[in-house]
Amino acid sequence: MHRLRPRILVDVSKIDMSTTLLGYKMQSPIIVAPTGIHKYAHPEGEVVTARAAAACNTLMVLSFSSSRKLEDVASSCNSIRFYQLYVYKNREVSATLVRRAEKYGFKAIVLTVDTPRLGRREKDIKNKLILPQLSNLEGLLNVDVEQVSKGGSDLEAFASQTLDPSLCWKDIEWLRSITSLPIILKGILTAEDAINAVELGVSGIVVSNHGARQLDYSPATISVLEEVVKAVSGAVPVLLDGGVRRGTDVFKALALGAKAVLVGRPILYGLAAKGENGVKSVIKMLQGELELTMALCDCYACLFDIEWISRHFGCYSNDLLVITIVKITRQICTKRKQWDELTGLQTLANIHLSLHSGLAVDRTNCKQREFDQESDWFRLQEKSSRTKIVVTKDRSRELRIGEQKKMEDEPVNIREFEERAKQVLPKMFFDYYNGGAEDEHTLRENMEAFKRIM
Ligand SMILES: Cc1cc2nc3c(=O)[nH]c(=O)nc-3n(C[C@H](O)[C@H](O)[C@H](O)COP(=O)(O)O)c2cc1C
Repeated sequence: MHRLRPRILVDVSKIDMSTTLLGYKMQSPIIVAPTGIHKYAHPEGEVVTARAAAACNTLMVLSFSSSRKLEDVASSCNSIRFYQLYVYKNREVSATLVRRAEKYGFKAIVLTVDTPRLGRREKDIKNKLILPQLSNLEGLLNVDVEQVSKGGSDLEAFASQTLDPSLCWKDIEWLRSITSLPIILKGILTAEDAINAVELGVSGIVVSNHGARQLDYSPATISVLEEVVKAVSGAVPVLLDGGVRRGTDVFKALALGAKAVLVGRPILYGLAAKGENGVKSVIKMLQGELELTMALCDCYACLFDIEWISRHFGCYSNDLLVITIVKITRQICTKRKQWDELTGLQTLANIHLSLHSGLAVDRTNCKQREFDQESDWFRLQEKSSRTKIVVTKDRSRELRIGEQKKMEDEPVNIREFEERAKQVLPKMFFDYYNGGAEDEHTLRENMEAFKRIM
């Protein structure tokens, strides 16, 4: 049983959270985890997340399932980025993306090893999740998702067609043969696998259960961290993700031997709620909470021995929401029914979020009339195939009176960011971000296990 043991009367006037990973310096040990399809939350998708991560001097791991091209993300800012890889049945697709990532300055490959098949995500199945075109795969892969999904989750159908379930340890050699970048394995939960990974010469390990989206009833990550750290015995850095929602969670993970933590859903909540500033806010919030925890615990006097260096963080301001829809997908025309359900049920604020995600707009079939009637809300400008929507009034006016105040308040913690994301996102997208596998037992446990350390 572990406990925080706050000690007193030590000078904590200067606290520095900075650390390094594979030689790259970061302002704090809080990293942006790879998560798919940021365009569900923001029209500019992963480019915005990357800018926010750069502004917070932290590292971002770009997902293989990103909705923006890795080249666009790379050119959007000068931050350090790692590239997360899935291995597809068609190895050439994965190899091409590794080469592109290398060429565009990504500094490491994070190979996700917990997804030989996709976990059963029942919310996505029920919502009949619509998958936008994954722009990195354009021209590389031709999968008729609609044909396979048969009215279920597009993601499930896509994954069943693409993911290589035969991926195994010897393939680390294959990966090494196609890249000189350091390789980090993400998705390790046992000492045995950690030892194998170290023996194969990987450069790092992420203790992860994929945010509880794969095997339900797999252990909470914080509960197996020590086992892995002990097995690795300092040979390579061990990172952790899953359920990190507070600075105290970060502190606990570091105390149990993690070099840094990755944060998944909170980043998406921030992106959905407030765009770039929202992501910055979420990172700074966790950094601020970690700093306070360190001050109140006093690191030297704490049970755990962690090295820290001091740092401060700055302010941020709201930005204007200007939305550009860059893609009009054919998918939507054929998914007319789901689109109608979405738009019919959601507020206009939500409609425009759906649009941003690149899932809209079949101009003849969809909700043209609504936009005309609401012209003081939206000004539509059409430029050939590009549709630009400028939000001309505060979105909060769309919300019911009881919710309005909540929308105006600045979220003070990750839970409030989550609530905000839930308010603004269409259910289908929020559920995709927030959901876990099957009974979501591990999803709850990822967070509960942190709470048991106090
Ligand atoms: C919406 C969503 C999409 C994800 N997509 C990926 C992905 O493409 N590749 C990957 O390795 N992990 C993916 N993950 C898992 C995250 O990298 C990370 O392990 C997890 O989100 C951490 O848990 P947390 O959300 O509780 O912070 C995804 C997670 C979420 C929530």
